[in-house]
Amino acid sequence: MDNFVYENPTRIHFGSGQIAALAEAIPTGARVLMLYGGGSIKSNGVYDQVAAALAGFDWEAFGGIEPNPRYDTLMRAVERVRAGGFDYLLAVGGGSVIDGSKFVAAAACYAGDDPWAILAEQAPVREALPLGCVLTLPATGSETNINAVVTRAERKLAFYSPLVRPRFAILDPATTLSLAPRQIANGVVDAFVHVIEQYLTYPADARVQDRFAEGLLLTLIETGPKALDDPNDLTLRADIMWAASLALNGLIGCGVPQDWATHRIGHELTAHFGIDHGRSLTIVLPALMQARRAAKRDKLLQYAERVFGIDQGEPEARIDQAIAQTRAFFQRMGVETSLADAGLDATAIDTLVAGLEDNHLLPLGERGDIGSAEVRAILEGALR
Ligand code: NZQ
Ligand code: ZN
Repeated sequence: MDNFVYENPTRIHFGSGQIAALAEAIPTGARVLMLYGGGSIKSNGVYDQVAAALAGFDWEAFGGIEPNPRYDTLMRAVERVRAGGFDYLLAVGGGSVIDGSKFVAAAACYAGDDPWAILAEQAPVREALPLGCVLTLPATGSETNINAVVTRAERKLAFYSPLVRPRFAILDPATTLSLAPRQIANGVVDAFVHVIEQYLTYPADARVQDRFAEGLLLTLIETGPKALDDPNDLTLRADIMWAASLALNGLIGCGVPQDWATHRIGHELTAHFGIDHGRSLTIVLPALMQARRAAKRDKLLQYAERVFGIDQGEPEARIDQAIAQTRAFFQRMGVETSLADAGLDATAIDTLVAGLEDNHLLPLGERGDIGSAEVRAILEGALR
């Protein structure tokens, strides 16, 4: 494996009743802006728990951060931070609220004219407000990582800065019991693909990372369908919540090649056609595995054997089976696995390829060899 530096200082409070830990986790005297989404936290009791824990603080709330958080909404939050003199942010929600709050944390301290440059030009983040979070949807790993994805018009872009990594993350699996089946599924498949992006590349003599990755994939394959069948089983939600966090907290990505082509293409599907993040990935991944099967051959065979127990037959047939099993898992989770499933046809492909070109995101992949033509071939393979 390659050399690496690993540091993840987010303090995790995991388990039932942990929202009360907010009272200790936020520094005394902080002036807190609590950011949330469209209101799920008001109907499932999370808002009330947070309010109770914040009783000793000077705090206000900013609601309305939408899925795939939008720049304009977040800039309204930045205005609120500046006008109100807030010095600590608390994100309460899913990946969109946490990502949005990360952008607010950076934008509120940005010295240039337009904080959009943090995304569009990858302008360096030199300062950010401190941020903590209460996670309500296991999926993105945003609760302990340095990434954030923001949308403006039809551009969905990411930025990365250790300064926006949450200081603490409260992970109470009970908060996820109110999730609709659609969101449970979106979260499980998103976490699954996060592991795949860091695992299904080429061998790098990273046996620990491989085994961690396989353990996370197996856990998600085992617990995801069960969580759909038994939406009240808290033990399953706990496993899913922890697996999703570990999938993108940097650990399994240490010293190994990473792909992320499925995500980049998926972001275009969301930006242009409004497809949920998790589902954008399950549309692209089976076709990407197929198109990249030669480049990923060794890891596909390892994945077939260790994740699905496929160790008999010709190598090419084993790879076929592994791709089919991946698709079957996604279908079991009730998500789309082709453009046709999402009501899209070949006319979408030009738009998606142009989006990647216009945002200067090509080439993609662990070897940087996926250009426009290769993306087009992947998407043609994803048609049905
Ligand atoms: O807004 P509210 O009312 O809270 O409802 C949300 C939203 O409608 C709802 N929800 C969340 N927790 C709930 C709940 N409903 C009932 N009970 C609960 N406990 O779920 C809906 C979707 O929420 P959202 O936050 O959008 O979902 P997710 O966590 O999947 O986040 C998706 C965003 O994260 C980005 C995606 O691109 C997308 O913008 N990602 C962030 C990453 C990162 N920071 O590392 C990595 C990922 O690959 C991803 O790109
Ligand atoms: Zn993702």
